[in-house]
Amino acid sequence: MTEPLIDPFQRAISYLRVSVTDRCDFRCVYCMSENMTFLPKKELLTLEELDRMCTTFVRMGVEKLRITGGEPLVRKGIMTFFDAMTRHLESGALRELTLTTNGSQLERFAQPLHDAGVRRVNISLDTLDEKKFADVTRWGRLPQVMRGIDAAQKAGLRVKINTVALKGFNEDELFPLVDWCAERDMDLTFIEVMPMGDIGNEDRIDQYWKLTDLRAQLAERFTLTDLAERTGGPARYVRAEETGQKIGFITPLSHNFCESCNRVRLTCTGELYMCLGQEDMADLRAPLRNNPGNDEPLEDAIRAAIARKPKGHDFDYSRQTVDGRVSRHMSHTGG
Ligand code: GTP
Ligand code: 5AD
Ligand code: SF4
Repeated sequence: MTEPLIDPFQRAISYLRVSVTDRCDFRCVYCMSENMTFLPKKELLTLEELDRMCTTFVRMGVEKLRITGGEPLVRKGIMTFFDAMTRHLESGALRELTLTTNGSQLERFAQPLHDAGVRRVNISLDTLDEKKFADVTRWGRLPQVMRGIDAAQKAGLRVKINTVALKGFNEDELFPLVDWCAERDMDLTFIEVMPMGDIGNEDRIDQYWKLTDLRAQLAERFTLTDLAERTGGPARYVRAEETGQKIGFITPLSHNFCESCNRVRLTCTGELYMCLGQEDMADLRAPLRNNPGNDEPLEDAIRAAIARKPKGHDFDYSRQTVDGRVSRHMSHTGG
């Protein structure tokens, strides 16, 4: 192990999110525009390069690795990469290897992922209504995702459902979603919609459903106890005492959590974004590719990048305008 990664605000960086592809088999309306241009394949890091990147970060103190996309499971040969990462779990260097997925490919991948050492998956799902699901994802089909969720649970993966809270879209499904997760023993996390990327003419402020309001609605039916427990991500959890289930809130807008940020994001082309809500990034592909067999230039580039990690995002809807918007889509950095 080398020196731990500490940023200018004394935050230790122990969580790496890796977007392995910008492509996706869905086109969620708040995430992508209808016509997206994707990166040419030759721009992508190869699976071997992804391995070398991640291994370098693990050597530098990363203990949690989350694979994202686009949709990570549409990347060709992705299981080769997961299987390669198993060695870092086995050595004890990595505490968690996990992914965030739309669930569409899980029927096929759940068991191999469990075999590779994955124990928990976060699955994005915003509605339980087939028609609404087809509308919000444009290309997605709910039954396919449901089969994926079944397969994940059958394979022994702990499932957390991620739901983007969308005003006028899933407000009426708050309790159905909560009940469904309780019945299936799945955790549930709500996310406030963030102003990332041009998605056509939708208005982020009209979509914004403040999680403090959502929580107040939950409290009308449940006794909510704040939990101290953290998963290493930004969610804050409560337990609904009546059902015993865990419900999480990711509140970049209503309650900024940047002071405890422990993560950075690598894109599929080897750009390192030090913050989800800022434009600054560092190219790690050049130091990697230009120095086969020597990781020192890559390590130097990583340290230099962490040394300029910003304090936090500037997303803000409080003036009834969308402030702090970033130009890239969520699928570029994987959330
Ligand atoms: P666990 O806590 O390990 O379950 O995961 P996580 O919440 O870190 O990961 P997940 O991929 O489920 O993240 C859910 C969403 O939270 C992401 O897609 C982002 O939308 C949001 N998110 C995660 N990290 C950050 C962050 O640093 N800043 C902001 N603003 N949003 C984040
Ligand atoms: N704001 C908040 N969450 C978003 N996601 C995608 N786009 C946005 C956005 N603009 C969510 C997805 C998924 C995760 C990767 O990010 O629904 O759960
Ligand atoms: Fe794909 Fe996820 Fe974006 Fe939906 S939110 S289009 S599933 S990357």
